[in-house]
Amino acid sequence: MQAYLIKNLKDYEGQQVTLQGWASNRRDSKGIYFIILRDGTGWCQCVVSAESVSEEVFNECKKITTETSIIITGTVTKDEKQMGGFEVQATDVQIIAVADEYPVSKKEHGVDFLMDNRHLWLRSQRQWAIMKIRNQIIFSIHQFFQKEGFIQMDAPLFTGNACEGTSNLFETDFYGDTAYLSQSGQLYGEAMAFAMGKIYTFGPTFRAEKSKTRRHLSEFWMIEPEMVFFDIFQNMDLIEGFLRAVVSDVLTNCKAELAMVGRDTTVLEQIVKPFPRLSYDEAVRIIKGEQDVNGQNSIKSLEDELKQVEAKMEEINTEIAEREEKIKTPGMKKGEIGFNQAKIDKLKQELKDLEEVTRNIPGWLNSARNFEYGNDFGGSDETVLTRLFDVPVMVYNWPHEVKAFYLKRDPENSKFARGVDVLAPEGYGEIVGGGERETDTTLLIEKIKEHQLPMEAFEWYLDLRRYGSVPHAGLGLGLERLVTWICKLPHVRESIPFPRMYGRLLP
Ligand code: 4AD
Ligand code: MG
Repeated sequence: MQAYLIKNLKDYEGQQVTLQGWASNRRDSKGIYFIILRDGTGWCQCVVSAESVSEEVFNECKKITTETSIIITGTVTKDEKQMGGFEVQATDVQIIAVADEYPVSKKEHGVDFLMDNRHLWLRSQRQWAIMKIRNQIIFSIHQFFQKEGFIQMDAPLFTGNACEGTSNLFETDFYGDTAYLSQSGQLYGEAMAFAMGKIYTFGPTFRAEKSKTRRHLSEFWMIEPEMVFFDIFQNMDLIEGFLRAVVSDVLTNCKAELAMVGRDTTVLEQIVKPFPRLSYDEAVRIIKGEQDVNGQNSIKSLEDELKQVEAKMEEINTEIAEREEKIKTPGMKKGEIGFNQAKIDKLKQELKDLEEVTRNIPGWLNSARNFEYGNDFGGSDETVLTRLFDVPVMVYNWPHEVKAFYLKRDPENSKFARGVDVLAPEGYGEIVGGGERETDTTLLIEKIKEHQLPMEAFEWYLDLRRYGSVPHAGLGLGLERLVTWICKLPHVRESIPFPRMYGRLLP
C-alpha cells in the first residue's frame, strides 16, 4: 500500500488515496460523518456518507472518538474552504485503535494542565506548527554553517570545569569525581577551531536556573560557532548574516506554520535591514533616556504607551459594559446574544493583556531610570532598549567585570571586554552572546583566579594560548530563544518538545 500524505493531496486531485492517521475531530450531520484526519503532515476533512461506504463501515464510524487511529480510503476533491484546500470523499474507513476520552480539548486549558499533558498537547495544530518552524530553523542553521565551510563538532556534556560562571552548574557524579553538565561547549570549540579553522557545536546545554522566567530553561540547545583569525567586528558580521539567513528561510518556507501560530510577520520581514551595533556606553545612554533613537526617547515612549494603554482599557471597559447591557434586552435572538457574548469574551482577553502591560511598564520605567552604569543588562533593560528597534540589536564592549572570563580586553580601553550580546526585538531580549577571546595568557590567568575557577581544570585551555595563539572569536545562539522570538511565543516552554525547567521534569 502506497503511503499517501495529507501534505501531498494536491498531487492526487480526483484520484483515490489511502490516508493513515488520527481523527482530531468528528462531527455528525444529517447522516454524514465529517472527520478531520491528522497524519503528522497536515489536517484534512474526510466525508463519510451512508451512500459511499458499506453499512458495516458506516455503523463503525460512530465509535471514532477524538484521537482514534484510523485508515481512510477515498477520492480527493478540491475545496478551497477546507484547511489545506482539499477534502477526501471516503469509500472505506478502518479503525486501528479507539481512543479513550481525550483530555486535551479545544476549550481553554490552563498552562499547567497543558504542560502535564505535553506528550498529547504536541498533537495540536499550534504546537505542531511551532515544531515545524523549529525544525526549519535547525535545518537552516546547519545549512548556513555548512555552506560557509564550518565543521560541526560535538563538545562533551560531562565537563570538569565551568565556562559561564559557577552559580548555575548542575553537579553530577563521574566515577567518584565531581563533573558538571555542560554550560557551554565553547572552550572545546576553541580547541577544535585551532585544529579545523571554523567549527560549530549544536547540542544540549544545561543551566540550573532556579527561577521561573519566560526566557529560561534548565536544558536548552545551543549553537556555538568558533572562528580563528576573527575579531569582534567580523563576528558581528557573521551573526548578522546568520540570523538573517535563518529568519529569511523561515519566512520563505514556513508561511502556513507562521499563520497557524498567528505570527504577524511584519517585524520579521525587517530582517533584511542592517542590525544596529551599539557600544555598551551608547546602549546605556539610550536606556536611561539620555540619547534618542530615530527621534524616539525610551522613557518618554514608555510613558506615552502607558497613557495610550490606559485610555484603550477605558474604551474596552465601556464597550464591555454596553454589550453586557445589550444582551439583557428581552427577546433578543439567541444568535445575537452568542455573537455579543463572544465579543465580550474577546474584549476581556484583550483587557487582560493590556492589564499586563500596565503592570510591566512602571517596572521598566523604574529600572531604566535607575540603571547603574557598569551593570549587566537585566530583562527589563533589554526590553526598554529593544522596544525602539524592529531588528535585532547588537551591544558590544561590555564592562569586563560583568562578563565571562574568556573575553578579550578591548585594546583601546581596558575597562571593556570585547563581548557582544544580540537582543531580539519585540521584548524578547538576548538571543546570542559571544565575543572575541582573550589571547593574553597573563590576563586570562588573572581572570580565572578572579572568577575563583580551579586553575588545574583550565591548564589545557591555556595550552591553546601557549601553542600558536591566534585572534579568534565566536558566539552562542540559544535555539529556543530564537524559536520563541520567531514564533512570538509568550514563553520559551512552547519552543521545545519537552521543556526542562525549574519545577518541570515530567513528562
Ligand atoms: O550568553 P551565554 O551564556 O554565552 C555562552 O554560553 C557563550 N559560551 C557563548 C559563546 O560565545 N560561545 O549563552 C548564549 C545564549 C544566550 O544568548 C541565550 O540565547 C541562550 O544561550 N541561553 C539560554 N536559553 C534558554 N535558557 C537558558 N537558561 C539560557 N541561558 C543562555
Ligand atoms: Mg549571555
